[in-house]
Amino acid sequence: MLEKIVQSLDITSLLIVAIFFLFLEYRPPWWYRSQNECNKGVRLIPGPFSLPVFGTSWIFYSGRYTFNRLHEFYEDMHKKYGAIMKEECWCNVPVVNLFEKRDIVKVLKSGGKYPLRPPVEAIAHYRRSRPDRYASIGLVNEQGESWHFLRTTLTPVLTSPKTISSFLPEVKEIADDWCNLLKQLRDVDDKISNLEYMADRLGLEITCALVLGRRMGFLLPGGETEIAKNFAEAVRQHFLATRDTYFGLPFWKLFATPAYKRLIKNEETIYELALELIQSANESTKESAVFQSVLKADIDEKEKIAAIIDFISAGIHTMKNSFLFLLHLVGQDRQIQRNIIDDSKKVYVKACLTESFRLYPTANALGRILDEEMELSGYRLQPGTVVVCHSGIACKDERNFKEPHKFRPERWLDDEKVQTTSNSTFLFAPFGAGRRICPGKRFIEQILPTILDHTVNHFEIVIENPLQLQFEFLLAPKGSISMIFKDRISE
Ligand code: HEM
Repeated sequence: MLEKIVQSLDITSLLIVAIFFLFLEYRPPWWYRSQNECNKGVRLIPGPFSLPVFGTSWIFYSGRYTFNRLHEFYEDMHKKYGAIMKEECWCNVPVVNLFEKRDIVKVLKSGGKYPLRPPVEAIAHYRRSRPDRYASIGLVNEQGESWHFLRTTLTPVLTSPKTISSFLPEVKEIADDWCNLLKQLRDVDDKISNLEYMADRLGLEITCALVLGRRMGFLLPGGETEIAKNFAEAVRQHFLATRDTYFGLPFWKLFATPAYKRLIKNEETIYELALELIQSANESTKESAVFQSVLKADIDEKEKIAAIIDFISAGIHTMKNSFLFLLHLVGQDRQIQRNIIDDSKKVYVKACLTESFRLYPTANALGRILDEEMELSGYRLQPGTVVVCHSGIACKDERNFKEPHKFRPERWLDDEKVQTTSNSTFLFAPFGAGRRICPGKRFIEQILPTILDHTVNHFEIVIENPLQLQFEFLLAPKGSISMIFKDRISE
């Protein structure tokens, strides 16, 4: 009901706007226009019609686009406006969207010592209101020196090649458990329906094994415990609520909107479940390099718990989506599966993952706040401007990759490799780029090819339906995924 009132932008909304005007000292851009010529560049950038105060957010309340289809909105905007497009958020704050290689590379290469990524304000707001649980707003959302301190304190062990190589024997065990689970849960036609639930269990098992140093048994028969189900679902709901508070009108700053309530509910569920996992961790946890490095860090105790929770949450859903995309792409071509099996050096399987990230990056765009003046597509932008690098769209532009819509792992191999890689540095950024790059990157690049290799060696994968996408703050497969896993008879 409340949502309907807000959506219809009726008298309640106008009253709220008036309160903003009065109490938050907001003045719309035209107020300053005569006095301030310095951010002229951004005002000239083309983009959809913008209303005073509401900016371009009206588009998402007009029925044409929903947040689920936000990826399609940006594709359409790129077609309509070309290299650069401006939208305006609440209070007409501009957000500049970049689709051209040269602009994306320029932004991601810059950023200085403390690159600024626009924080998820609703999470920051909630965490600040819970000093009993959080000492900061966390590595993902902190900025400047506080971010740098957390990053240099918490992530070196996670990103170290030693941690990753010592984890490899465990990856093989996890891959075995995964294949056994597929065998057990297939129906008489070798089909697995709801593969997404199994991918959730896989994501959770892998992330907990890395971060907590403990095999949780989520992939064992009967391992679909309440904690696994609830954790994975809470993380998914948390991403959805993050999306709705991030892209929707920020009424949550005034009162707890339904989206904000969902965000808090799931943030609390994740916190409690993660605490349960941490506390129930057995002796083996003490040997986990990542867990130990966080426990020994010279930071507030609350910060340690929050870091472990953030690592687990950042890993599960991204990994699940990425693995489902990878299975789908490999499953649609028998020859690709043969190539994976035949390649004893295991470079082909890695190229499959890279190519899958190019076509379906779950993090399809990267936000930054400029910390220096920059000219992008001929417009001069001031420090402080929010820009979004649509690497996912640019990686499907035929000027950047030949036959861009084709799944062709070969482009990352042999003779083509040098050209593809040099052509795509900073453009192809499924884990981000620069100093804020994902600390889980190396780990994922090791683990997912191993699990795929195991799967393809055990089964011939056949996909059932075309892949549909949905924007859940991350790009995710839409609806239920079913695939066929036939036993592979040695030929
Ligand atoms: C397929 C899996 C994953 C993908 C695609 C992914 C992608 C990303 C991306 C795009 C960013 C933003 C980087 C930027 O702004 O430049 C990021 C940040 C982050 N990721 Fe991942 N990630 C994955 C898995 C993981 C895992 C397994 C962990 C932890 C164990 C993790 C922890 C983090 C953290 C803590 C940040 C914030 C880093 C910072 O701001 O300094 N991610 N990730």
